Amino acid sequence: MWNELTRRELKEYGSRSPVATTNFTRRGNGSGIDRPSTTLEAPRILLQNHLFRCALDSQARAQATNIDRLMLRAIRSLAHALEAKDSYTWGHSKRVSVYSVAIGCELGLCEEEQATLALGGELHDVGKIGIPGTLLNKPGPLTADEYRDVMQHTVIGERILEPLLRSNSAVLAIVRWHHEHVGGGSLPDGLSGEAIPLEARIVSVADAFDAMTSERPYRPPMSAASALRELEHNAGSQFDQDCVAACLAAMRDRVQAIAS
Ligand SMILES: [Fe+2]
Repeated sequence: MWNELTRRELKEYGSRSPVATTNFTRRGNGSGIDRPSTTLEAPRILLQNHLFRCALDSQARAQATNIDRLMLRAIRSLAHALEAKDSYTWGHSKRVSVYSVAIGCELGLCEEEQATLALGGELHDVGKIGIPGTLLNKPGPLTADEYRDVMQHTVIGERILEPLLRSNSAVLAIVRWHHEHVGGGSLPDGLSGEAIPLEARIVSVADAFDAMTSERPYRPPMSAASALRELEHNAGSQFDQDCVAACLAAMRDRVQAIAS
């Protein structure tokens, strides 16, 4: 490909360069001998410049990919640190990630949006790292004050990830708003309806489904069929109706497999 680019550049150079249009220059000694070396030198420098630029571009791309990979590894380390602190989170984030992508597929989201759901699902609770372990692992329902404190994990999570994911605002939105209710009035910002980004509405459904079907110290796990009924019951008030319908469709096979 660079050969074509080089040819194009040389052509452009020839059309605008005073050296190329002159073609030959006379020696100042009056000998009358032509000097074609100038016109040969210019294309050679152009070619070298082009090759140098290609090499730099390639190095920059490789470094950017490497930085992205390291960044992702650092972010995942945070999620693993949380799993060590909060026994409930063990496996929860990964399942929420998988369920969110399944719902996104049902809604016809593109690959990039599905990748956002996968990462957002994995990181949605990372802010719990800033919540006391005694609250996270309390063997019983939380008081209103304790609930408010625990819900701060949404804001803390966004603050932790913001410097690392500045270019991925959709993941940050999931982290901050995955507990908002479509009917409004929830924490942290009391958003409602479509003011809550779609990705956050999807993760909200996936999060609730996994929470209901997981064992907690104070209650046994709910069956998948009962959890889906509960989602349907709260569609339109807590959960987005389309996201719940997509979750039902995505889980249908899974529920049937569990029931049989
Ligand atoms: Fe959460």
